[in-house]
Amino acid sequence: MSTPPRVRPDTINRLVNSVYPGLALLAGMQLDVFTPLADGPKDAPTLAGEMGVRPELLDTVLYALASSGLLTTEHGRFANTPEADRFLVRGSKSYIGSNHEVFADLWSAALRTADTVRAGAPQAKHDFAAMSPDALRSFFRGLDAAARASARKLRRDFDFAGSRHLLDVGGGSGGIAVDMCRAFPELHATVADLPTVTPITAEFIEEAELGDRIDTLACNVVEEAPVPPPGPCDVAVLRAFVQVLSVEDAASALANVGRALAPGGRIYIMGRMLDDSRLGPPESVAFNFVFINIYDDGRAYTESEHREWLAAAGFRDIERFRIGEGNSIMTAVKG
Ligand SMILES: C[S@@+](CC[C@H](N)C(=O)[O-])C[C@H]1O[C@@H](n2cnc3c(N)ncnc32)[C@H](O)[C@@H]1O
Repeated sequence: MSTPPRVRPDTINRLVNSVYPGLALLAGMQLDVFTPLADGPKDAPTLAGEMGVRPELLDTVLYALASSGLLTTEHGRFANTPEADRFLVRGSKSYIGSNHEVFADLWSAALRTADTVRAGAPQAKHDFAAMSPDALRSFFRGLDAAARASARKLRRDFDFAGSRHLLDVGGGSGGIAVDMCRAFPELHATVADLPTVTPITAEFIEEAELGDRIDTLACNVVEEAPVPPPGPCDVAVLRAFVQVLSVEDAASALANVGRALAPGGRIYIMGRMLDDSRLGPPESVAFNFVFINIYDDGRAYTESEHREWLAAAGFRDIERFRIGEGNSIMTAVKG
């Protein structure tokens, strides 16, 4: 009689243990340990002294970050890796350390998944129309660095040289508009968002000193076309926007964005997009855990769903590009 193969809890153990390095990163970003290390290697007591915290607690975080590959350690002194230096040091051009506010928000929402499924409704709901100005400010500050990084990605991969008027739809902080206008001096931009959000958007634009080239437009894009003066735009970018809407609202919003684009204008949808199998990319499949906890209907939608909405809205030449971490860019031309 053959013995059945021994089944071990390997997958379970792997999944359980994979959570902690991310939490160490979150703590490192929240404590901003990487910025003081930009001057050079330091031991835990020196760094703790500069930060005003207890060294025996801080060094736990430092060793966890070293074990994950974001710090190195030699003779008890810690140093940033090139990756940490580039992305996690405040003031660096590619700084994304401020994303910790969003990570903490989204990960704590994901912890409510069983409650949400039992209750049949999101238990950590984000209602952009009802959030306080402070909550909106903090949420968008957390997203802003990633929005600007997405704009850099767009600029690297697509040609915007001849573009004149860019519409940043559901733009939040306006990070896409700000980065694009900085890169292209001839470009004008409009950030369209809900009326509760655009006053916060205006603060970010003011801070970027681009008030003369970027306008805001208070508009519910599901209900009306976001056409800014003097008329239709030639580029629309929708980052992390379609995924906050229901199926019906996404179709309606894309039809309205179509109305705000001149014929030949191009739309870029950036964000979480599922393969039609719904099994990948794995990061987007997992991110749907966040969506069901924070939105009534928002989800990562499939490539085919996006294609259908765009075709129905009069777009042609629809193409999808995968850009890593489960994100995609879908682009199309207004017919
Ligand atoms: C997840 S945030 C993304 C913000 C920004 N695009 C970014 O990537 O940082 C979603 C944005 O969509 C906006 N939004 C949601 N529903 C909207 C609607 N019906 N019309 C206009 N904007 C909307 C929200 O106010 C919010 O700014």
